[in-house]
Amino acid sequence: MQQFRVTVRPQAPEYEIKIGPGHLRRLGNEARRCLGRTARRVAIISNPQVFELYGARAIESLRAKDFLVSAWLMGDGERFKSIRVLNQALAFLSKAGLERNDAVVALGGGVVGDLAGFAAAIYLRGIALIQVPTTLLAQIDSSVGGKTGVNLASGKNLVGAFHQPRVVVIDTETLLTLPAREVTAGRCELVKQGAVGSRKLFDLTVSSLRKSNSDHRVIRSSPQLEQLIAAHCAFKASIVAGDEREALDRADHRSRRILNFGHTVGHALEAVTGYRRFRHGEAVGYGMLVAGELSKTLGLLEVSELELLREAVQLCGSLPAAGDLDQREIVDLIRHDKKRLDGYVQWVLLERVGRARIVSGREIKPRELRASLRIVLQ
Ligand code: NAD
Ligand code: GLY
Repeated sequence: MQQFRVTVRPQAPEYEIKIGPGHLRRLGNEARRCLGRTARRVAIISNPQVFELYGARAIESLRAKDFLVSAWLMGDGERFKSIRVLNQALAFLSKAGLERNDAVVALGGGVVGDLAGFAAAIYLRGIALIQVPTTLLAQIDSSVGGKTGVNLASGKNLVGAFHQPRVVVIDTETLLTLPAREVTAGRCELVKQGAVGSRKLFDLTVSSLRKSNSDHRVIRSSPQLEQLIAAHCAFKASIVAGDEREALDRADHRSRRILNFGHTVGHALEAVTGYRRFRHGEAVGYGMLVAGELSKTLGLLEVSELELLREAVQLCGSLPAAGDLDQREIVDLIRHDKKRLDGYVQWVLLERVGRARIVSGREIKPRELRASLRIVLQ
């Protein structure tokens, strides 16, 4: 019998992340460089708040490079990251006449980036995507690595696709207009990546947070900020390069799953409050502290290391109160988390600051979890 051999090389083509002040003015150049001469149309997906601030600059830059630009605005907030809104976005792409060699530009925070990215992933079975993240969280995390998707009523990010952008354009000046709570949320994600990345990344993060608490411009726009964002993007890129699709059989300290540090409790806090009380990063702030307590209880993490984590989260800014929340409800939500493996939640814990350890929920007693929640949330 004749046999055939087919080789599939799944690694996505590499792409660049451009970071600097005023980079929105270079969007057209970057788009033309990575899309080539044949691309004619780009469709911007944004929201009213971000578009009002930065839409005109983006359009001007794209038109200057001969793109036909159309724009569509989704509602502002996590609740709009839904199948219903995705459907509207797809209808817009079709009406705008986008063809296979055209592109979607996601202009906004993680909500816009995730939904627009998913629309680009499935429209005509996938067209080019350009991420233009405008929140700190999106600049260091969600715009890099290709995870896109929307929420279901039963949980966050339950539908989606891996779809890498062609380029990520980070204009650090956009952070100048970011509301204070969004800065806190982004800082929590900085601490998260430092805590699981390396002691060097963690220390760089903490020293930037300290400086920015005495001079607010540091975390909004400065060469130090650009260096910090670049260090975090480089870390995330290194994890994604080694485990692009978060392989089920990876549970080592460089697997993509470590990026979910703080998310098990974080997602439960968001859900238990109907996505109304916490910004995503704020919930992750609490989630990291609970994971730190659990790590200590299981004998993985020294008290002195836990103290470093606590100090770092404190430097991010104040988090909304959580003492009134029903801890049994939170435990229940965690136990029924849709992203279990073999029936158990996979916890990302710490062995030390800068090194994660994946631990199956099987190893964690409910009373240990309840005790950690009590210590952190009250
Ligand atoms: P967001 O997108 O809701 O933005 C936060 C708020 O800031 C919004 O009101 C937005 O309009 C506003 N905003 C954005 N940029 C602004 C600017 N420059 N000036 C003034 N206002 C601005 O929230 P987020 O924190 O950016 O993203 C959270 C989302 O990201 C969640 O849905 C989360 O699940 C997702 N996420 C995805 C990944 C991934 O890998 N794909 C990673 C982390 C988080
Ligand atoms: N933010 C988690 C990931 O990109 O894998």
